[in-house]
Amino acid sequence: MRKLVVLISGTGSNLRALLRAIDDAAGTPDDLGARVVAIGADTEAANLALGDEFGIPTFVVPPAEYPDRTTWGDALLARIREYGPDLTVLSGFMRLVPPSVVRGLAPALLNTHPSYLPEFPGANAVRDALTAGATRTGATIMIVDDGVDTGPVIDQVRIAIEPGDTVSALHERIKTAERRLLIETVRGIAHGRVDLVSLTAAAHSDAMASRPED
Ligand code: GAR
Repeated sequence: MRKLVVLISGTGSNLRALLRAIDDAAGTPDDLGARVVAIGADTEAANLALGDEFGIPTFVVPPAEYPDRTTWGDALLARIREYGPDLTVLSGFMRLVPPSVVRGLAPALLNTHPSYLPEFPGANAVRDALTAGATRTGATIMIVDDGVDTGPVIDQVRIAIEPGDTVSALHERIKTAERRLLIETVRGIAHGRVDLVSLTAAAHSDAMASRPED
């Protein structure tokens, strides 16, 4: 059984969907093969009530309590490691994690993102797609690297932008797709169909091949 730590900053609706999927399939032939062993956040404002609801321990590591980003990252990594996870998921965790956290967890550190990366990286992906006048955007789940939403893509889907769409209406449709990606990615990793080491190696060799000659 794979152990997951999931980090959130806000409502955690995608995490809730994952927790429900895990509970619904538990002990059936569709068992996800994974359990969330802790929920972490960077702010008390995150929906840590999910922990009580699903009987899962929670922790908060607020950056304001640390002198700098590096020290905050070290504290965050230490809290995550207490639970010995096989996989850590940033599910609406709205802060870049420092390189020490990426190095400490890679490649078993995933992020969900509300666009079809590499289109619209960053913290305002849904608004940016609307502002750009795009006719479609998407949802992506990827391995976290040191860049902003630049890591190897595990899976992604396209979502059409409808005339008159608002940020919240579009984001809700994207999240519906994100939840499926997240659940199926966790299942794929737990059942050995998604190999994070190979995906990382493939992305690295693609990057080397596209480098200009010295
Ligand atoms: C999700 O759409 C997730 O992809 C996004 O925040 C939302 C969290 O929703 N994350 C990012 O934009 C990270 N750059 P939720 O709190 O309702 O699950």
